[in-house]
Amino acid sequence: MKVLVTGGAGYIGSVAVDALVASGHEVGVLDNLYMGHRSAVNPQASFFEVDLAERSAVDEVMGSFCPDSIMHFASNTLVCESVREPFKYLGDNINNAINLIDSAIGHGVERFILSSTANLFDEPETVPISETERIVPGSPYGESKYFVERILHWAHRTKGLRYAALRYFNAAGCTPVKGEDHDPETHLIPLVIQVALGQRENIKIFGDDYPTPDGTCIRDYIHVEDLAQAHILALDALREREVLHYNLGNGNGFSVKEVVETVRAVTGHKISAEIAARRSGDPATLIADSRLIREELGWKPKFTDLNSIVQSAWDWHQAHPHGYGY
Ligand code: UFG
Repeated sequence: MKVLVTGGAGYIGSVAVDALVASGHEVGVLDNLYMGHRSAVNPQASFFEVDLAERSAVDEVMGSFCPDSIMHFASNTLVCESVREPFKYLGDNINNAINLIDSAIGHGVERFILSSTANLFDEPETVPISETERIVPGSPYGESKYFVERILHWAHRTKGLRYAALRYFNAAGCTPVKGEDHDPETHLIPLVIQVALGQRENIKIFGDDYPTPDGTCIRDYIHVEDLAQAHILALDALREREVLHYNLGNGNGFSVKEVVETVRAVTGHKISAEIAARRSGDPATLIADSRLIREELGWKPKFTDLNSIVQSAWDWHQAHPHGYGY
């Protein structure tokens, strides 16, 4: 298939591009490089340096590349930032998605896969969280993703666009050639690894008074390669199915303290940690029930334990101590 990947120079998107190329698809990457890295783009993919806010430029890419499918990763993604700057998220994420989806429909795109989020489930009634959990976005970021899911609902109902909304829990880990390099970095695992590399003095644990066994937040860490495989399976499944919603996680939760401990064990470095105030927007516990995608599409994560996920990240960060910037 001809797949256009927005955000294909970013952390998760670049891994999905590699997986698509390896599966024999023809891939185009649309990315404005605000957060992404040109060198993260698979050399076998066509590259379009375009901002989704520029509707005419998006139309040009659609007209020249002529994709039949889209994977939409490009987005503002930080829960905490979205609490500080709600309109950046409620504006950009939604307007850019409208540009993309409307243009895609106008150019005959048949299938669309959205990077959605576990942040749809603030204070869930049942943990692990399944697809039937009520949706209560936990931040302007989560709300923006929910809006985009609703836009896709109407794009399907009115224009027949087939779509999958993949709700990731905490993407983590690296492949031997693609890694996590955000500026600024805000994610737990790469920050703890920076301490191990001597690039940061300590890790601040945001809150130890949550209603969890050790008081720190619990998350479900899922390897980027496993996420990428879920995208490939969903793309294929949309041949038969019209609408898919899946929660993607390992089904195991780890507290912030457990993550720090795992990085200590994997790296063999002493890592100094300090308790700090809670970060706004953080729910106490997010763990996925991913049985539906396992049963329906046969998805089977390869990285099922936190050690192997952290090991993959440690390997990449040791090989790329300055990320893509060296
Ligand atoms: N944390 C710390 N110290 C840090 C950084 C993070 O204690 O220096 C904690 C956070 O408070 C949170 C946990 O580590 O409890 C994980 O935080 P991350 O920033 O790594 O990830 P988030 O859970 O905030 O968010 C990620 C993605 C979102 C997505 C969400 C889904 O960034 O886009 O997972 O669960 F919505």
